[in-house]
Amino acid sequence: MSEKKDPKDTTVLVTGGAGFIGSHTVVALLEGGYQVIVVDDLSNASEKVIDRIDQIVGDEAARNLTFYKADVNDREALEAIFDANDIDRVIHFAGYKAVGESVQKPIEYYSNNIGNTLTLVDVMRNHGCKSIIFSSSATVYGDPDALPLTEESPKKFCTNPYGWTKWMIEQILSDLVTADPEWNVVLLRYFNPIGAHPSGLMGEDPKGIPNNLLPYVAQVAVGKRDCVHVFGDDYDTPDGTGVRDYIHVMDLASGHAAALAWMNGREGVEIFNLGTGKGTSVLEIIKAFSAACGRDLPYQIDPRRPGDVTANYADCSKAKNEMGWEAKFGIEEMCRDSWNWQSANPNGYEG
Ligand SMILES: NC(=O)c1ccc[n+]([C@@H]2O[C@H](COP(=O)([O-])OP(=O)(O)OC[C@H]3O[C@@H](n4cnc5c(N)ncnc54)[C@H](O)[C@@H]3O)[C@@H](O)[C@H]2O)c1
Repeated sequence: MSEKKDPKDTTVLVTGGAGFIGSHTVVALLEGGYQVIVVDDLSNASEKVIDRIDQIVGDEAARNLTFYKADVNDREALEAIFDANDIDRVIHFAGYKAVGESVQKPIEYYSNNIGNTLTLVDVMRNHGCKSIIFSSSATVYGDPDALPLTEESPKKFCTNPYGWTKWMIEQILSDLVTADPEWNVVLLRYFNPIGAHPSGLMGEDPKGIPNNLLPYVAQVAVGKRDCVHVFGDDYDTPDGTGVRDYIHVMDLASGHAAALAWMNGREGVEIFNLGTGKGTSVLEIIKAFSAACGRDLPYQIDPRRPGDVTANYADCSKAKNEMGWEAKFGIEEMCRDSWNWQSANPNGYEG
């Protein structure tokens, strides 16, 4: 049984903690009284995030945050971090996440996502730390047979290397528990995280052309891009466009805090969906964002993208029943906060 500890006595290593979801989770953990260590190589993040986190949580909580610029796959660096700190649990966000890019760069994706996870769990084991929360994705459900998706829904073939890395890492972490039941593994399957911190100080800051709908829509709203590309309007959905379960990043952050509290003193492996349970179409998102920014955003219909599924949304009753967590925010708040962040920081952290 893993040792039960109060948040103030618990040190959580957050890999990829300077990224979009990681940074919001770090704020939630610091506000919850945890000691937090961020390890991020800044391959897809800015160091300015750390200052923004400090600004949001205030001086006292900020003293509980330590930042290391390091690659999780750098065994020597990771060993040194574990030697210098008494780490109780790990939340593992670090990885590459661009679906399209993963098709072009499979070696980089398998090597970073799977390689860094193997290095991480090996170093954790060497230091007697056997508690990990992993960022998985609804992508492991592939093209669903039935909706909503529960944790019991079958894992399907993935359509790209990124999805396979999530699929395989889930398997690797589950195999760890089979080999050594003292491991304490929580696999969180995120649906579509969007939104930003309500302060406007933190949000999603993709490098290059955004892969996901929301940052793209936000960049159209701020005038950085001409129009939103809608991939397919002939799906079997009410308005013909793809339907997804969007979740506010603040809800996702509180989901990680809930998972940390839930896993305290447990062992074994458990899976939770983190979504809202509601499906929203691409056109509904464009409409909601248009309302948030106060003008109709231009869009054009393009052909379907290979690999995109018609619809997915989650059944989140397990997270509610087990961890007492449920999403609080709707599409309106997600678009409001996303616009607030994008309009205050048109060039992201560099602006
Ligand atoms: N955003 C989504 O739509 C989504 C959906 C499902 C799952 N996820 C998963 O959640 C996690 C976080 O996603 P995000 O949207 O915050 O992405 P992000 O790119 O903003 O954050 C990932 C962070 O990891 C860092 N990183 C990457 N490789 C590293 C390495 N080897 N060592 C140290 N740091 C490294 C990057 O610099 C970045 O700060 C990822 O694992 C992603 O696959 C994201």
